[in-house]
Amino acid sequence: MNNISGWLGPGSSLATFLLSEWQVRRGVQGAIAEIGVHHGKYFILLALLCQPGERAIAIDVFEDQHLNPDRSGLGDLQQFRRSCEIWLDRPDEVIVHQCDSLLLAGRDIFSPGLPQTAERREGVRIFSVDGSHTAQHTANDIQVAFDTLAPGGVVIVDDFYNPRWPGVQEGVHRVLNRRNDIAVAAYGDNKLYLVQASDHAAVYDFFSREIADLYTDTKAVEVCGRDAVYFTLKDALAAFDSKLDRCARLTSTFGQGGEGAVRLISGWAPHREAEGTWITKPKAVAAITVPRALRIFANRDACLSLTLTPFVHANRPSRRLAISTNFGAGFEQELIATTRIELPVPRQAVKKALELVFDGETPEAPAGILPGSTDTRPLSFMVRECELDLEPPD
Ligand SMILES: C[S@@+](CC[C@H](N)C(=O)[O-])C[C@H]1O[C@@H](n2cnc3c(N)ncnc32)[C@H](O)[C@@H]1O
Repeated sequence: MNNISGWLGPGSSLATFLLSEWQVRRGVQGAIAEIGVHHGKYFILLALLCQPGERAIAIDVFEDQHLNPDRSGLGDLQQFRRSCEIWLDRPDEVIVHQCDSLLLAGRDIFSPGLPQTAERREGVRIFSVDGSHTAQHTANDIQVAFDTLAPGGVVIVDDFYNPRWPGVQEGVHRVLNRRNDIAVAAYGDNKLYLVQASDHAAVYDFFSREIADLYTDTKAVEVCGRDAVYFTLKDALAAFDSKLDRCARLTSTFGQGGEGAVRLISGWAPHREAEGTWITKPKAVAAITVPRALRIFANRDACLSLTLTPFVHANRPSRRLAISTNFGAGFEQELIATTRIELPVPRQAVKKALELVFDGETPEAPAGILPGSTDTRPLSFMVRECELDLEPPD
């Protein structure tokens, strides 16, 4: 996501990812398509969600910017192809149409050259509408998308309720006023999720129940006479690694923030070294909050690993560490060097803040003990990396 320029938030990426997984679980099949790909930021995510045999279709005016009346984005075919080369296994299989979306009605978007077709074509399971943001283009593009939508498919419209792009709202409502076979299932994090009226109940259920525990804000609303879900998803990136693979692991450097998961409450050095934080009082308290997006992985007991270094010297070759927690785990041992310890975390505990109390024996200031040291802070242990593995091996 950080490597391709464009417009895409972590919340809508996670919603799209989970929606796609849900479709696949239910046997929904089809291509993915996008009108308005710019450099491919969202398109690449969609293309990576394709299952074997599913195709990816990209439509943009690219360099023909005279066909982009409201200057929404700036397509660039070379940049787009480069994104496909870098991120997709089979970039040659992407179907690319350089054209004005207003010309797509009645055309076969699966075929090069966009031949005319009289039949209603079905075959796209996720269709993103993000081209020109005028009301005319938005209404046109949504209808083009529904002409090719597979059963169980979803049309995702960007910039819904974005005050900078009022044409999108107008275009959406033009379609909804005219066609009662199209319904809103949900909207959030700048995207709107439209479905065939016959799929509304199932997709509404996905947004209102299946992923509801990930929302940081949500409200049951009504749009054009049908139930819809408003939502925001935060901390979404915590659930992915750099390859967009789901990652059931929270990694954070103690005191440095990481994903903002570790909160140092009392007993810690105010100055934090890059690699961790020293305990400066006989007792230090910290809490770890697992981002909501990661809690979906908490289907079994987790494992919390901490790496700690004792402050030891010639007169104190080891130091006793005791850790007590609010999730039933504890630790007590004499440490002589940097050590990684593991604490079991029961599955249910992941939903609350994990509290840890460290007792590292009376801290001592290195100044006066280590020759040449000017560090007058009383120190006992440095807590370094912290890793919470939500799917540890059995
Ligand atoms: C907001 S950008 C799309 C952002 C993109 N989806 C992303 O993930 O970053 C809008 C894109 O729509 C394209 N566009 C504008 N007018 C269009 C039209 N009439 N037909 C097709 N594409 C158009 C622009 O060239 C631009 O690449």
